[in-house]
Amino acid sequence: MAPSAQAPANTLQVLHWWTSASERKAADLLAARMADEGLAWKDAAIPGGAGIGAGKVLKGRVLAGDAPQVTQIIGASVAEWAELGLLLDIDGVASAGDWNGFLFPTVQKLIQHRGHVVAAPLGIHRVNTLYYNRALFARLKLAPPRTWAEFEAAARKLRAAGVAPLAQSSESWQVAALFENLVLAESGPEFYRELLVKRSPAAAADRRTAEALVRLRIVKDLIGREMEERPWPEVVRQFARGEAGMMIMGDWAKPELAERGMALDEDYGCAAAPGTARYHLYSVDTLTMFAGANRHRPAQEKMARVLVSPSVQADFNALKGAVPVRRDADPARMDGCARASWTIFAQGAAVQAPSLVHRMASDEASRDAIIAEVHRYFLDDRATPAEAQRRLGALFRLFNLRSQGAPGA
Ligand code: BGC
Repeated sequence: MAPSAQAPANTLQVLHWWTSASERKAADLLAARMADEGLAWKDAAIPGGAGIGAGKVLKGRVLAGDAPQVTQIIGASVAEWAELGLLLDIDGVASAGDWNGFLFPTVQKLIQHRGHVVAAPLGIHRVNTLYYNRALFARLKLAPPRTWAEFEAAARKLRAAGVAPLAQSSESWQVAALFENLVLAESGPEFYRELLVKRSPAAAADRRTAEALVRLRIVKDLIGREMEERPWPEVVRQFARGEAGMMIMGDWAKPELAERGMALDEDYGCAAAPGTARYHLYSVDTLTMFAGANRHRPAQEKMARVLVSPSVQADFNALKGAVPVRRDADPARMDGCARASWTIFAQGAAVQAPSLVHRMASDEASRDAIIAEVHRYFLDDRATPAEAQRRLGALFRLFNLRSQGAPGA
């Protein structure tokens, strides 16, 4: 028998990728709330931002017949695992708790597969968040940039004052996150979906994709030599030390900044990434329950029920930097940054863009291939936008063939 299957029925092993100091605190809060309900949380945290490590470990464990009872699986990956018949349906919990009565419609869709609820939603992160150092901005008489042209102007002033304009890692997913922000700013959610959800070859060839790629290169040049391949908490530390004037990152950075003694609205300001104030580029966190060990089922269902409760939603998301998945959440309990996120998300699909990097837009294989392509373009200054567009277009045609089940695909 696999080791995790021998655990007592009320002990649930939870595989997730919340390993930074602040993420750890948020996970500990969940563990404590589980304990209040008589459930033991056995932690199986795997480092790696955006789940790069966790996904691999999960595959290995499932193949070895040792799936954890609970796993952070998000976005399109939920459907991929559910399609294999590996996820427990929690329809009973969702209907008894009337989840449809309070969940945002986008969240309802994300947790369903073939008409069954297969994930418990936790929180919504906003990926198009800009942080700026208030003391530096005041000293240099800068306003938070609302457009990419303003961003460039601010970056030049910071650079002239001897400060790195943007804290940024060259790690592939973090570069791709910058790119998806640029696509959204350049063109809005509709085109964003054409390019990154439908993956249309025409969108790859479009002028707007070229513009986002050109802008990505400009931003790289502005950042200059300070950029290294670093995990995201280190990028946050660079910003917190005042060594960079701005940072663009999902709002999980907020509690990590608090860990570093930075207070929102005092030491740093939070705004939408340039050109995206009206939009919400989202990553929704969800926990799925693995099917198989029936004796764990009552505990798994209880956990799902607790996760969506108003108090866990409010307290967890305040610690995590995200916002509740509930339409009936109380915005008065949120900081200004979170309130803006929750309010914009509540406007619905027309202003929402699913983050490719955080698996909201596409299956894992397509996501990985697109990220690799954008990263390659970013690292190689000789690669032209037109070449990157051609390569993306070729990838998209391949994906389309595959999804039509063409021979050899
Ligand atoms: C998750 C967040 C996490 C972030 C950094 C995202 O994919 O939604 O919960 O904090 O990755 O690892």
